[in-house]
Formats: sequence, structure tokens, C-alpha cells
Amino acid sequence: MGIIIKNVNRVLFNNELQLCQIRISNGVISEIGQKVRQSNEDVIIDGKEHIISPGFIDVHVHLREPGGEAKETIETGTNAAAKGGYTTICAMPNTNPVPDNKKTLEAIYERMNQTAKVNVLPYASITKGLKGEELSNMKELKDAGAFAFTDDGVGIQTADQMLQAMEDAASLDLALVAHCEDNSLIHSGVMHEGVTSKRMHLKGIPSVCESVQIARDVLLAEATGCHYHVCHVSTKESVRVIRDAKRAGIRVTAEVTPHHLLLNESDIKESNSNYKMNPPLRTKADQQALLTGLLDGTIDFIATDHAPHTEEEKGRGMKEAPFGIVGLETAFSLLYTHFVQTNIVTLRQLLDWLSFKPAQVFGMEVGSLKIGAKANLTLLDITKEWHIDKTTFLSKGRNTPFDKWKVTGKPVLTIVEGEIVFEEDYYV
Ligand code: DOR
Ligand code: ZN
Repeated sequence: MGIIIKNVNRVLFNNELQLCQIRISNGVISEIGQKVRQSNEDVIIDGKEHIISPGFIDVHVHLREPGGEAKETIETGTNAAAKGGYTTICAMPNTNPVPDNKKTLEAIYERMNQTAKVNVLPYASITKGLKGEELSNMKELKDAGAFAFTDDGVGIQTADQMLQAMEDAASLDLALVAHCEDNSLIHSGVMHEGVTSKRMHLKGIPSVCESVQIARDVLLAEATGCHYHVCHVSTKESVRVIRDAKRAGIRVTAEVTPHHLLLNESDIKESNSNYKMNPPLRTKADQQALLTGLLDGTIDFIATDHAPHTEEEKGRGMKEAPFGIVGLETAFSLLYTHFVQTNIVTLRQLLDWLSFKPAQVFGMEVGSLKIGAKANLTLLDITKEWHIDKTTFLSKGRNTPFDKWKVTGKPVLTIVEGEIVFEEDYYV
């Protein structure tokens, strides 16, 4: 028995649409064509001429479990991912306990096997307990299934420690994924240091807090040959440093979030902690530089930094609330509406930044629509107009600055290895 998805449009390299059928057998794409083989036992899905894409991949997701289950669990976070069209996500290690050893990482795998709705690849931490003191045993963690290494949430403070970490990661051929933030430059800031922080009399985090560490790290990556991936790039100087490093042949890659592409500090009209995230929303010039960097390939792809928090925590106001906003259930629609509908980027570019590119950067065997690939697929209704409504999120997190935004385009069906993991109500 197979599954046949009929009447779907795939997006070709030149952005043209091509109506096709896809046959799935044993969780794998076995045929793509105008008319695929069909037998009586096959399950037929009518794609209603919607867009078929390789399932989205988000390499930057905070699932919070273990230890932060009030904010999110593996189950709720992966349900949110499925609703957003994601079929593979990478889970950040700032949990409690931190996956800095084999036992904890294995326990996370066990929990994921029980409750995850989409594929989850867990990160392990660079330093034990994310404390920046002692390096984790990367060999042991690779053997236990670590996807890559990161201390996301905090920067690696000394060049010496970063050098050692990069050497270890390089010897194992895994990526070093960096949250770049120099603690001596944070200045207890809660937003970008600029006109808005001045107007609101709040402490600011200067742009150099991020870029200075990237500048250091690209040189360390050059010295070690490590694959160095920069998380959530937010400043124009960071883009410039990464562009120069790529030109010099250094093995650096980078991601940008939907919120840094869509918003800047001037959008923060009041003390609303749904605009508080780390790195913070920067200036209009930074926002523009991020888009330019994405378009010219300096920035490789888009990742959400989905960071759920409870309403109580986010209700503490700009000064006290934790950093972070959710993103899995709004990313595609926001990006489609603001960049594809406006003709700034093509649909094919957007789909590549959400699937093919992250897979390519991290050498994952997913992210393309081809025969023999695992059937991780997302069906997108690009005509659907709707309003983002945080009360309908499957994530436990409601912390979004995009509530009530009018958008066009919606993931309507998500398939992981041949199994339907999400179906939009109106679509069924
Ligand atoms: O805004 C953020 N939230 N940035 C981070 O780096 C960490 C994340 C979190 O864990 O909440
Ligand atoms: Zn981060």
C-alpha cells in the first residue's frame, strides 16, 4: 500500500510551478511525475493544486524539555513544528539538565521517541552545564547522537576555550553553532542600545556585543578548519564580517530569524516583552543588511529561534521578562506575506531557505523532493488569508509580537516519513 498525493504544484528551480503527483511507498518518495502508478489499496490525497515543498527544517528550536515543561514540551513543541510545516527541528540544549553527557542525551532521545511528532535532532552543549568553564566531552556526545554543539543562550567568552572547542568539533566533523555575545559588552541591556532604548530609558545591548565575537571566531574557524555556524545574526557589522570570512574561504555559515528580517527597534512602541529577544531587534539599517545578506548568500538560511515562555514570565515587563519569542507556527506565513507576495524574493528562494539550505549546510539527508528521499513533505495553501491568533497555537508559548497580523499562506498538511502529522482543519 502506498500514498499518492495528486494535484500538487512543485516549485522548479526557475520558480515555475509544475503540476504533479507524488507516490510514497514505505515512507519514501518512490515516484514523482505527471501520473504515477496507482493500485487499489493506495491512499489518495487530493493536493488541491497547493504547493508541495520538502518539509521545513528549523535548526534553532527551544523545546524546553527536560526541566522547562511549563514553557513547552517535546510533544507540544513538535506539534507546533508540524503545524508550521516543519518536519525536522534541532533542539537547543539549554534545558535542565543540560545534555552535556551521554546519559542526559540518551534520556532526551528516549523522551523524543515517545512523544515527538516530527524528527528532532538534539544539540549537545559546548561546555558543561552551559557554564563556560569546562568543555563537554564531544566524542562521547557525538557517539550518543549529538547533532552539533552549541551553548545557545550564552556566548563562549574566551578565545582559548573557543579554539579548543573548535578543534574538538573539527576532529569529529560536527559543527560548532555559536550564540555570539560578549558578556563584557551586554551592559545588563534588555534591548538594542539605540534610539528606542534611550527613549524608553532602558539599558541597551550594543551591536558590537555580537559582531566582535563573530570577528574573533571566524579567525579561530580559519585556524582550526571547523565548521562554524553563527546563530541568529542581527547586526550589519556581523553580516559584513561573515561576508568577508566567506570570501576568504573560511568555513562559516549563518542563519537569520523571521523577526529580525521583519522588525526593527522602531516597532517597539511600548514596554511589551513580546518584542524582547536575544539578540534584540536592531535598527532599520541592520534589518536591511540582514535581507541583503540573505539574498547574496552571506546568510545561508532562516531559523526561528522558537523560544516559548509562560505568560506569567513574559508578563513581567521589558526589564524582568526572559528573552525570546515563539516562531514555529508563524514563520512561513509571515515570510511569504512580507517577502514573496511583495516580490522581494521568489517562492523558490523562500522554500530553499526553509528546507534545502539548512539540510545542505548541515549535511542532512532531507530537504529535497527527489525519488528515494524520505517522504518529509509540506503542503502550502498560498492563497489562504488569515489572521495570526496566538490562542490557536499548539505551542504552549503565546509570546509573539505578531498576534493579529494579517497574513497570506498557510501550511495545510505536513507529512513525516509518509505519515500525516498535521492537517489543517479547513483543508480536510
Ligand atoms: O531570545 C532568546 N531566547 N535568545 C536566546 O539565545 C535564548 C532563548 C531562550 O532560551 O529563551
Ligand atoms: Zn541564541
